[in-house]
Amino acid sequence: MNDPALETIVSLCKRRGFVFQASEIYGGFAGFYDYGPLGVELVNNIKQEWWKAMVREHDNVFGVDGAIIQHPKLWEASGHVAGFTDPMVEDVVTHKRYRADHLANTDSTDLAELKELLKDVTSPDGNALSEPRFFNMMMQTWVGAVQDSSAVSYLRPETAGSIFTNYENVRETMRAKLPFGVAQIGKAFRNEISPRDFIFRVRELEQMEMQYFIRPETQAEVYEDWRTFAWNFLIERLGISKDNLQWHEHDEKERAHYAAAAHDIYFKYPQGFKELWGTHNRTDYDLGAHQKASGKDLQYFDDQTRERFTPYVIESSVGVGRMLMAVLVDAYNEEEINGETRVVLKLKPSIAPYRVAVSPLLKNKPELVAKAREVYSTLKKEFGNVMWDDNGNIGKRYRRQDEIGTPYCVVIDFDSLEGDTKDTVTVRNRDTTEQARVTIDELISHLS
Ligand code: GAP
Repeated sequence: MNDPALETIVSLCKRRGFVFQASEIYGGFAGFYDYGPLGVELVNNIKQEWWKAMVREHDNVFGVDGAIIQHPKLWEASGHVAGFTDPMVEDVVTHKRYRADHLANTDSTDLAELKELLKDVTSPDGNALSEPRFFNMMMQTWVGAVQDSSAVSYLRPETAGSIFTNYENVRETMRAKLPFGVAQIGKAFRNEISPRDFIFRVRELEQMEMQYFIRPETQAEVYEDWRTFAWNFLIERLGISKDNLQWHEHDEKERAHYAAAAHDIYFKYPQGFKELWGTHNRTDYDLGAHQKASGKDLQYFDDQTRERFTPYVIESSVGVGRMLMAVLVDAYNEEEINGETRVVLKLKPSIAPYRVAVSPLLKNKPELVAKAREVYSTLKKEFGNVMWDDNGNIGKRYRRQDEIGTPYCVVIDFDSLEGDTKDTVTVRNRDTTEQARVTIDELISHLS
């Protein structure tokens, strides 16, 4: 089975320690999730892969890590305080609130259109709905000792904000010339009207974003380059099947307030093809707005052409949780082996939470355990993410490692201790289930 249901993924995540509900012992908290031991490893590997491809492999892309709470004027200037909204309707009896576009099953956020589409629609509880109106998703807090309106500030709704306000700092400190990019990985917060579909739509999310500052006349070409980057990254660096991906172009009614063009890569989630990664042309909207609001000159002076202008921005933006969910759904397989079903996560080895698991055949035989511990320390020094697994019989260990996507299991048995096979181990391959006898000396190169 290669198209797992949402409940299958949720249950795997809980059972194997990838993702837990936040505040679970209090009944959970809608829109918030915690990553468990396996989830945090997988997420860190995904983020590292993105950072490598985006920052380390580009001479002209630089990293930053901005504060989550910025000056409220930033979000007024960016248009988020006024315009970061989703259309909402309310059940007139229960007062539960819903995304109007979701109930109307459309990508449009046009209120008149939504009103028309929803005229015969009732709430999921069968009651009449209010007229659609906009709801602002900014999460507010107060900064300082006085909690009045002058202290209101916001948890960032996207990481991009501090990239725009640091544009000049990065340009100057890195002596950067156009085109150049600024990348960031970090948390963002959105008061989603109806968080849903597990970690797909949450209120606390993590984003990986990059803003690429360019000359305006290069916008079309650069836009295509970053679309290609995103597509190739998913296939080549994360191993996602291209059959599970498709493009979706935003029409005018769907685009965010800052975007002149937007293309999303949709992934085939259990709930259907949905947005995973966006490429947006933000033109000079943001630098222009911050320049106007702050009074600081954010223009670029090209010393070759002697021109002064406000750079355009092409943005690449993806949610870490949505990427994790796509990776899990894509890798999930159920296979029949000897009349039994095995669940296997066929993760690309470079992002698997554990590269290899090491086991003594029996855990009550000290000589096997000692040899296995030796092999374990050698591999741990080399790969870092190596698991010691001596729980249950070997069959159970293989099933457990298959389910968490460990590409190899190394088993130390009695043949490892004496005779012609002394200092050899069994290496079992997750995808083929085949076993090979490998000398301990060759183990690192075999696994690499
Ligand atoms: N800076 C541009 C920006 O934030 P966006 O389309 O609103 O654009 C970018 O968000 C990406 O962030 C999305 O493609 C998605 O992967 C992720 N994302 C957005 N809202 C989310 C939410 N509520 N829960 C999880 N991920 C979300």
